[in-house]
Amino acid sequence: MGIYLDNAATSYPKPEAVYEAADRFSREIGASSGRGAYRNALRADGIIYEARASLAELFNVPDAARIVFTSCATESINLALFGTLSAGDHVVCTGIEHNAVWRPLKALERQGDIRISIADHLHDGTLVLESLWEAVQEETRLIVVNHASNVLGTLMPVEDIARGAQRRGIPVLLDAAQTAGLHPIDVKALEIDLLAFTGHKSLLGPQGTGGLYIGEDVSLRPVRYGGTGSESAREDLPDVLPDRFEVGTANAPGIAGLLAGVQYILERGLEAIVEKERRLTLHALQRLQDVNGVELYGPQDADRRVPVISLNVDWARAEELAFVLDDEYGIMVRAGLHCAPTSHRLMGTLNRGALRVSPGCFNEESDIDALANALGEIEAKFR
Ligand SMILES: Cc1ncc(COP(=O)(O)O)c(C=O)c1O
Repeated sequence: MGIYLDNAATSYPKPEAVYEAADRFSREIGASSGRGAYRNALRADGIIYEARASLAELFNVPDAARIVFTSCATESINLALFGTLSAGDHVVCTGIEHNAVWRPLKALERQGDIRISIADHLHDGTLVLESLWEAVQEETRLIVVNHASNVLGTLMPVEDIARGAQRRGIPVLLDAAQTAGLHPIDVKALEIDLLAFTGHKSLLGPQGTGGLYIGEDVSLRPVRYGGTGSESAREDLPDVLPDRFEVGTANAPGIAGLLAGVQYILERGLEAIVEKERRLTLHALQRLQDVNGVELYGPQDADRRVPVISLNVDWARAEELAFVLDDEYGIMVRAGLHCAPTSHRLMGTLNRGALRVSPGCFNEESDIDALANALGEIEAKFR
């Protein structure tokens, strides 16, 4: 299987129970949820209900119905942005946004609907919090925050942002694609208004799963219309959540797998996963800084980041390294811009990208050692 260190893109492998749950759903249940009263249709409903409830437990969401399933974080973010913003609105975002946020925001700006201001960061991704508040204007209707950069790994001070935004009466959309399942997120304590998450990264679910938590005070317009299996005689969408935002047939096999992933996290304990990932991050930072001619990006303090470590060396291009690591050592890492040009602009790597190493909760220190040793051998060949 090789050594997989690209968990920031998608987690692999998944817990065995995730494969089994998705497979069992397809083989033994198969029915469309929310559409029938026969036993298998009700079993499908039950699995989706349970998946929502387990996510609500993980994120401390008081009302699970306020979590709607989507196909990925990108879809959740599109719903949040196109569903809340209107002509004349102003948005403040961090300077490390993924294209999942940046492209919809720029599309809205091109349409002439919104204006965007971007907060400042230090070179390692640390947010300059005052710059975020200085960017706020009278028309600011949303603050968008990438919880952790998918390039620098840097965590944003969400508690401070949420508190400050609340004082100013501005809703916050948190992009938790890189943190859900590996960093605590308490929606109730934070009073976050919109939480976009993906199911296939640290929540350990299959690809094609994700969701959006919609706070009670948020007025969200649907962006997609269609059948919900409820109030079918009505021409408009049902008012009730989650139906209002879940149109068409659900990805029930995927959601069954996601439920197994979240159950795995709840059973193993998020704290245990956080601690393991912290240990791996620390080990990676220590081993990789010994590679000759290396530049490591992001904070050097493991407590201020997630296990996403980008680097460049002065003796090879990131793409070459990624190719040789896979081809000769079976080590899978990603090179390039990682859909986040904003972070690369900050790092000064927009023209060359970086090599990204992202261990997951099933990696061990020995995987990092294998990577560091391989980089040492590759250097000897390249020099
Ligand atoms: C910070 C961030 N936001 C959003 C996304 C998009 O996630 P998805 O591919 O599940 O839509 C990613 C994926 O890499 C990400 O890292």
